[in-house]
Amino acid sequence: MTAGLEVRACGLTFPNPVLLAAGTAAYGRELADVMSLEALGGFVTKAVSPEPRSGAPAPRVGDFGGGMINAVGLANPGMEAVKREDLPWIAAHVHAPRVLVNVVGKVAEDFGTVVAHLDDAPGFQGYELNVSCPNVKQGGMEFGADPQALHAVIAGARAHTKKPLFVKLSPTLPQIGDVAKRAVDAGADGITVINTIPGMVVDVERRRPLLGFGSGGVSGPGLLAVGVLATWRVKQAVAVPIIGAGGVQSAQDVLQFILAGASCVAIGTAALADPKLPARIVRDLARWCEREGTTVAELVGALKSS
Ligand SMILES: Cc1cc2nc3c(=O)[nH]c(=O)nc-3n(C[C@H](O)[C@H](O)[C@H](O)COP(=O)(O)O)c2cc1C
Repeated sequence: MTAGLEVRACGLTFPNPVLLAAGTAAYGRELADVMSLEALGGFVTKAVSPEPRSGAPAPRVGDFGGGMINAVGLANPGMEAVKREDLPWIAAHVHAPRVLVNVVGKVAEDFGTVVAHLDDAPGFQGYELNVSCPNVKQGGMEFGADPQALHAVIAGARAHTKKPLFVKLSPTLPQIGDVAKRAVDAGADGITVINTIPGMVVDVERRRPLLGFGSGGVSGPGLLAVGVLATWRVKQAVAVPIIGAGGVQSAQDVLQFILAGASCVAIGTAALADPKLPARIVRDLARWCEREGTTVAELVGALKSS
């Protein structure tokens, strides 16, 4: 553990604030050969649903000048396989980093079903409820946008666990602070912002959408400013810990999120391109804090007004 980087959020101690974002770290095992998981503050698993999901048709990812677009469609092996195979692997191999399980469902009750099934499994310390996926036909962004559905998702999960519940919101919500408040009132312990932004890239030669699903979620560098603003807005609205995400490529980007109010910051697209980047960012962050004579914990939400 590097001095000055430790953060506490929702009763969990993270050795540093740098996480891998949901869907880009799979269930840890897939990354163990290409990066040192122990250098991280933690990671969020790929989505877990009650039943296995085969996901969206190929192609599922594409690049464009502004970043990346994906419609993976929340493909995952389902909660039984995750409990039987993936979480025991994490328990045996991941020690310092904190692990959150990302949960999805087609209907609101699915979230409680997954949480009830996984709650006594080893290998993780909390949940992230994904109510903001832009690229599924059923059970995506509408959960975050509909107050009743949001309440049902969170209360349903809350009924089955004492572990921390983060709720992941979309930057497309017009009043994201109000939605964060509703999430906390329904039982959320923390908020994650942001998920990808809906988009479409056209393959001009084929005169068709590039992705098999048609539309997809945009991620990468362009999301940084959007994510930082969402973090700041959520910080103004609620007192709970925030996980920031969106376009992070450097320690400076992590610091932007932290100053805006995030306790932890998740990296997605940039870590897919360069798996060594997250550990390098942790080292750069440590150097920055040492040079400035400060700690990450002191910097959370320390943004001065302009
Ligand atoms: C390929 C891919 C798969 C993703 N899968 C999930 C997922 O299963 N659950 C989720 O909540 N977010 C998912 N996300 C969103 C990321 O966790 C993150 O919020 C978003 O990509 C913004 O961060 P970035 O710009 O650093 O990638 C996915 C993103 C990508 C690129």
